Amino acid sequence: MTLASIIEPYVGKTGGLISALHAVQKEHGFLPEDTEAVAADVFNLTRAEVKGVISFYHDFKRAPQGETVVRVCAAEACQATGGRALVAALEKKFALKMGDTSASKDLTLEPVYCLGLCSCAPSAMVGDRLVARANADKIGAVVEKTKKERAS
Ligand code: FES
Repeated sequence: MTLASIIEPYVGKTGGLISALHAVQKEHGFLPEDTEAVAADVFNLTRAEVKGVISFYHDFKRAPQGETVVRVCAAEACQATGGRALVAALEKKFALKMGDTSASKDLTLEPVYCLGLCSCAPSAMVGDRLVARANADKIGAVVEKTKKERAS
């Protein structure tokens, strides 16, 4: 499917641009480079307007993600309970900077802004698994479990 054919059905609908971007991301796993230009053309918007929407929502990805995505909460409660130290420990453990995907494409490390688990901070998410009172070893164990499950 072309980007235009994915995007066009959403023109004229309430929240159409956001829905169209979600549809593109669902199809490709991320928003390919020309998404801005195609969406701007189809919706008769400027590229800056489309770029503004894409950059406002953290859920939109500009590059392919790893098979396992580790999201670490960067919001207030988690920052106040060791969130920065957790990020440093994870970056060291996985040899990855926050926001990056490993060269082998098996892991992505990215920030998230509140997982609704503030009372058990610091919090993280590995794939669709929440990790409360997170530390690097706990997250590493969930990453390994997730990889084993995928391999079986
Ligand atoms: S602030 Fe981290 S889960 Fe809410």
